[in-house]
Amino acid sequence: MLNQALIFGVLASTAQLARASVPRYAQKISPISFAVLDTVPTGTQFNGTSHFIPPGTTSDSLKAKPFHIYDDSFYDIIGSDPTLTLLAYTATDPIFHEAVVWHPETNSVYFAQNAGPVAAGTGLNKSAIVQKIYLDDAERIVKQGNGSGYVNVTTVDSGVRVINPNGGTNFRGKIVYTAEGQGNDIPPALYLIDPNNHDNTTVIMNNFYGRQFDSLNDVAVNPRNHELYFTDGPFGWVQAFRPNPVLPTQVYRFNYDTGVVRAVADGFHMTNGITFSPDGMYAYVTDSGVSSGFWGYNYTNPSTIYRYDVNDEGNFSNRQLFAYNEIRVPDGIHCDVHGNVYVGTGDGINVYNPSGLLIGRLYLGTTSANFAFTGKGKMVVCAETKLWYVNWNAEGADITSNAYSG
Ligand SMILES: *[C@@H]1O[C@H](CO)[C@@H](O)[C@H](O)[C@H]1NC(C)=O
Ligand SMILES: *[C@@H]1O[C@H](CO)[C@@H](O)[C@H](O)[C@H]1NC(C)=O
Ligand SMILES: *[C@@H]1O[C@H](CO)[C@@H](O)[C@H](O)[C@H]1NC(C)=O
Ligand SMILES: *[C@@H]1O[C@H](CO)[C@@H](O)[C@H](O)[C@H]1NC(C)=O
Ligand SMILES: *[C@@H]1O[C@H](CO)[C@@H](O)[C@H](O)[C@H]1NC(C)=O
Ligand SMILES: *[C@@H]1O[C@H](CO)[C@@H](O)[C@H](O)[C@H]1NC(C)=O
Ligand SMILES: *[C@@H]1O[C@H](CO)[C@@H](O)[C@H](O)[C@H]1NC(C)=O
Repeated sequence: MLNQALIFGVLASTAQLARASVPRYAQKISPISFAVLDTVPTGTQFNGTSHFIPPGTTSDSLKAKPFHIYDDSFYDIIGSDPTLTLLAYTATDPIFHEAVVWHPETNSVYFAQNAGPVAAGTGLNKSAIVQKIYLDDAERIVKQGNGSGYVNVTTVDSGVRVINPNGGTNFRGKIVYTAEGQGNDIPPALYLIDPNNHDNTTVIMNNFYGRQFDSLNDVAVNPRNHELYFTDGPFGWVQAFRPNPVLPTQVYRFNYDTGVVRAVADGFHMTNGITFSPDGMYAYVTDSGVSSGFWGYNYTNPSTIYRYDVNDEGNFSNRQLFAYNEIRVPDGIHCDVHGNVYVGTGDGINVYNPSGLLIGRLYLGTTSANFAFTGKGKMVVCAETKLWYVNWNAEGADITSNAYSG
């Protein structure tokens, strides 16, 4: 204990020394600087769809130095010279949406297109598309240092088409997807893709005791029992590509070996992203109920990250409000090795410490629905029409070794 405290003290003072200079692509934004505003806009001027531009900044200045330090502990996460590099972009189609999964064995990153409304530029004919990039390409572009070269994006031709994939994670050396389904006849399902043999894609679960789910959204592996936990909500319905929900909006667990599916949590508006703390003691679930497709926005609905205790049996209990999302809706969510919580949101990625304090942000100025840690100090970020690469200190919780053990 004494040694630990000593080491901690030394580390802390080293970090404080480093704090003398703010990294070139970072800026400090102190909450005390906007605790009092000259005028505070009304709810019709500033609401759940607005972007917050703190006093003394502009949208451009926020983007120019995109690593925003809200609390000094964020210095340890960004390190001395964090960078953000554009890897790829499209003119309109939101091909970089969600289901971002790093597959270490092939050093590739998989992602899926937005299955949302046609107005988003997608169209259902295009939405069942899984694509990938190679991280070696990403590294080469970072070395060029100017974002001038873009990585090749290749389409994954899976033997069985994944219909409207929205979430994904590593599972036993392969990738499991939550797919939203389409219309009446293609039910939401879990699919398993083998990155070494895309042809061998299989549906591993598609019903709850004979009932269709609403629209499966996101999936995570509990590192303690290795079961698949996934969220289900009425997204396909409010985006007009699935029928009326016939199940409540819930979180479920699926045991791949026994086939057992069980509900573990309810009481959501729009249950969205899910992840576990590195030790598996907590589950985090986002509720993006504030934004509900053709129901529109209801700013008094949740835009909230909830935390649950996970017991030895894998049950959820003790739901706590972990954080109410500052800007628009919380979506994809992942932890780093220290248990800090990263959440994709309306203008980038928010980073909270394990007690729910917003310590920093990666500011993009546009929505990031999801992202993936891709090894120590690296992250790939989906932002609809743009794909970004982050180099900093953060390292993701080890989803791969957990997911590999069968
Ligand atoms: C919310 O704020 C935006 C501007 O940020 C405005 O365009 C919109 O009309 C507002 N919505 C409501 C319901 O007041
Ligand atoms: C989808 O593709 C089919 C066949 O090419 C076409 O008939 C249909 O109009 C397309 N639907 C949309 C929404 O683009
Ligand atoms: C970016 O870097 C590459 C490799 O060094 C170089 O070929 C290219 O001209 C640079 N582009 C710009 C816009 O500076
Ligand atoms: C991208 O793919 C094209 C066609 O296969 C190839 O010519 C090119 O070298 C690739 N670029 C990179 C950066 O890998
Ligand atoms: C195809 O995938 C299924 C499910 O993961 C697996 O049981 C089977 O062995 C695989 N077959 C081949 C040829 O890889
Ligand atoms: C917003 O949501 C609350 C809680 O679900 C509900 O009571 C209220 O009627 C909703 N308001 C609108 C305008 O939809
Ligand atoms: C966990 O849930 C299962 C099934 O719902 C139940 O049998 C078990 O008692 C629960 N365990 C605890 C510790 O609550």
